[in-house]
Amino acid sequence: MEHVTAVPSWAMFAYLVSGVLFILALRGLSSPATSRAGNRYGMIGMTIAMVTTLLTHGVASLPEIVGALAIGGGVGFVTARKIKMTDMPQLVAAFHSLVGLAAVLVGLAAYLNPQAFGIAGADGIIEPQSRIEMGLGIAIGAITFSGSIIAFLKLAGKMSGSPIMLPGRHVLNLGTLIAILGLVAYFTQDQSQWVIATITVLSFIIGFLLIIPIGGADMPVVVSMLNSYSGWAAAAMGFTLHNTAMIITGALVGSSGAILSYIMCKAMNRSFISVIAGGFGAAPEAAGGAAKEQRPWKRGSAEDAAYMMKEAENVIIIPGYGMAVSQAQHALREMGDVLKKEGVNVKYAIHPVAGRMPGHMNVLLAEANVPYDEVFELEDIQSEFSQADVAFIIGANDVVNPAAKTDKSSPIYGMPVFDVDKAKTIFFVKRSMGGVGYAGVDNDVFYMDQTMMLLADAKKMVEDIVKALAH
Ligand code: TAP
Repeated sequence: MEHVTAVPSWAMFAYLVSGVLFILALRGLSSPATSRAGNRYGMIGMTIAMVTTLLTHGVASLPEIVGALAIGGGVGFVTARKIKMTDMPQLVAAFHSLVGLAAVLVGLAAYLNPQAFGIAGADGIIEPQSRIEMGLGIAIGAITFSGSIIAFLKLAGKMSGSPIMLPGRHVLNLGTLIAILGLVAYFTQDQSQWVIATITVLSFIIGFLLIIPIGGADMPVVVSMLNSYSGWAAAAMGFTLHNTAMIITGALVGSSGAILSYIMCKAMNRSFISVIAGGFGAAPEAAGGAAKEQRPWKRGSAEDAAYMMKEAENVIIIPGYGMAVSQAQHALREMGDVLKKEGVNVKYAIHPVAGRMPGHMNVLLAEANVPYDEVFELEDIQSEFSQADVAFIIGANDVVNPAAKTDKSSPIYGMPVFDVDKAKTIFFVKRSMGGVGYAGVDNDVFYMDQTMMLLADAKKMVEDIVKALAH
């Protein structure tokens, strides 16, 4: 059978080159020092892949392609320029939903016009192998689409972040998944419309059902898991379309998303299965809230912090979501510079889930030109808190909450946290005693003997400390 999509050997080579560039891109993105080069590799690889596809597939006219690129690229450009860093997780979730939808649409287009995709003869009978790829691609794409929409709504606060638990959901989910797989198998025998339509609808439903019981604290894992799904959906479609670039790219996205989910599960000490099973983070407001207000705590000032840090030998700064909200990273770098001039040893401690997306703190500190060799990951700096004179917590909360180590009833129990309590003095920057972190729980660090609360907007407080240091 003649494949309309059969590609010449130069194009196969070009796809291979773009695949290698994508691998180099991922390699580059693994460290802040090489991430810009990584991004460039990715952009060049994608340009090569797109130009190759356009030159070898006469499926649409040039104006149609340029028009579609202009509309899609324009929307992407404007969104990327406008989006606030703190809204990035929901934007990523929204974009994943589009990848899923694209896989569904490509799959349905291939089903409706199989000859154009080179997967059926003149009789319109689709090859059985292509039917499996198509069925799986559409199913994974649809799950990614509806799952990502729920993730977007939860992250954007348009839907409660608490888990929504339907009775008997495990049985319902398992039954639906088995039904989808059964239908994909049946599709190889019968390519009727009702089969593919049912696969699509059931997959949309299961995406919704799978994500709805997952609580806000587990959302980062879910977003990266959906990213992984979107990659597998693209890879499955790559097989259907006989497109090597799509297979390579899809597999890279699929596997890197899966690895990232695994790393984040480890960072929060949760098993992947328990994340998928959902229910984590139910009614977090109740936990620990009762003891609030009644315990004594100490308030410090910018002058106190400046004085103590100037006198210190080792200062460890722990940034979190609040630093991102107030955009305090530049002032923070300035504070670090002044302290270093005073002979203080300044280090930044970054928790894997600090902020609201993987690498959130690293990106902001890099933007403020904080030297990479001053930035440390949890396992590399944990042992240094016992020698630290000052732990300076700025907009972080859950990632320094000792309840994660001691309180089995806490929603963050099991998550590794910084041992800030081992530092001689703790400065805790946040806006008010009432404000809680993402998990919604009180934090014993506020009430420790060596803790001084610096209650203010993070940027304002750090600017005041820098001024006080100058005097
Ligand atoms: P959080 O626990 O969310 O705490 C943020 C703190 O910042 C709060 O104490 C808040 O108190 C303070 N804050 C907010 N705005 C501020 C401002 N303008 N100035 C000063 N302080 C401000 O942050 P974290 O320690 O970074 O923990 C991250 C949490 O998010 C974890 O539970 C993690 O699981 C979750 N999460 C992470 C990700 C990823 S992948 N990183 C994605 C989604 C969720 P006030 O309101 O009193 O100021």
